[in-house]
Amino acid sequence: MIRKRRYPLEPTAEEMRDMLEQVSERIIAHIDSLESQPASYDSDGRLVAKDFAEAVPTSGSDFETLLDRLFDDATPHSYNTAGPGYLAYIPGGGIFPSAIADLIANAINRYVGVWIAAPALVQLELNVIRWFCEIVGYGSGSGGVLTSGGSLSNLTAIVAARRERLGDDLQNGVIYTSDQTHHSVRKSAVVAGFSESAVRHIETDEFQQIRVDQLRDEIQIDLAAGRAPFLIVGSAGTTNTGAVDDLEGLANLAQKEGLWFHVDAAYGGFFALTERGRRAMAGLERADSITLDPHKGLFLPYGTGALLVKDEGALRRAHATFADYMPAMQHDPDFVDFCDLSAELSRDFRGLRIWLPMKLFGLEAFREALEEKLELADWITHQLRKIPEVEVVTEPRLSLVSFRLLDDPDGEATHRLMQSINKRKNVYLTGTLVDGQFAIRICVLSFRTHHDRMELCANDIREAVSEVTTLN
Ligand SMILES: Cc1ncc(COP(=O)(O)O)c(C=O)c1O
Repeated sequence: MIRKRRYPLEPTAEEMRDMLEQVSERIIAHIDSLESQPASYDSDGRLVAKDFAEAVPTSGSDFETLLDRLFDDATPHSYNTAGPGYLAYIPGGGIFPSAIADLIANAINRYVGVWIAAPALVQLELNVIRWFCEIVGYGSGSGGVLTSGGSLSNLTAIVAARRERLGDDLQNGVIYTSDQTHHSVRKSAVVAGFSESAVRHIETDEFQQIRVDQLRDEIQIDLAAGRAPFLIVGSAGTTNTGAVDDLEGLANLAQKEGLWFHVDAAYGGFFALTERGRRAMAGLERADSITLDPHKGLFLPYGTGALLVKDEGALRRAHATFADYMPAMQHDPDFVDFCDLSAELSRDFRGLRIWLPMKLFGLEAFREALEEKLELADWITHQLRKIPEVEVVTEPRLSLVSFRLLDDPDGEATHRLMQSINKRKNVYLTGTLVDGQFAIRICVLSFRTHHDRMELCANDIREAVSEVTTLN
């Protein structure tokens, strides 16, 4: 039955079908062309952005024209983050069924913040959390929440740790992490009410791993000065070089001193699905809380993070509150009201974006894709070693390798090398400082990156090296 349009905000069934058809045409064409789209853009972003500034639309526009504007005019002026050549920062993903899941979730628009509003849908999201707990090696009593990304997961972890170890007295609290930790940890500490000086950035060794001996000493110094050490944040895959801290060593120290142990595994966490990842991250399951980013290691679209805690009660104690107008919350450990476990009340049904592809493909498909990323990172490292002018700066502990030109103390030539690689538009690489010196990073994490693209990458690097070194 085709409904008649009675209100402007309610399209008819026919109109909805037409919109979906138009969108599916565009999306399929877009995804089909991802491989041939340039890895980055050349346009002047300022001009493009200005062209898109617009006044409040007082009347409506034609749907097709809006799609043209989005797909043809706006999208091309962006990094091709969903394409196979995106090897920059930490690549994202964007597996297609997640897009379908978002469409369904937004179309049905059910409320998953509280259990009573949609028990079965909340259960699907809880299943996802429990699967993740299993992947990292957590047992019964563990739990967690889906967040918008690693930054919010780290913040939520700090809030839980603060509550569990400091109660209401934050004043002397001290947080320990390494000088390689993602900057969201410092930011989260400040948002959670600590001063920047309450965050100790402990030195790292030649493998960019936190120096546990120095951390031990720092804790003793702070204790002797009457401060209140309460949290150690380890990294399972740093953004800079992919380094994984000695998680067993950190767990032992945290246990001895009674500190909360959080692991930021936003980049590395899902490699726990692989044999090599599990070895590299030994001790992960001993953490009190773990940040995972499904929009990194599970290839999902941006906006999908997760925080897991060994004791779900810790999240509840930090976040649960009440109001007269709210329904009764669940106390049965089998059920959960997500609003009791995080700062959010209303939010999207983000669990569906994970549940649908995991059910559709099965875990094995993700494991295989992650194994492939590890192999590709090893392969490109091997290619880099064959270039005489290049030095591998950090080996892939997981899927990230960094390199630079030899005899380039100020990094200027390496910088030019990166520009020369990127201007070919087959891949997009970014740089960082390793021990104060500029290095180019290759982070292989897109589910669309396969051997053919890595061959292009190796080729471009070789060509760019001869271009830059000839000019020198
Ligand atoms: C190790 C690490 N932690 C935290 C984050 C922050 O995650 P998000 O960008 O999802 O907020 C990142 C982002 O790249 C990361 O690599």
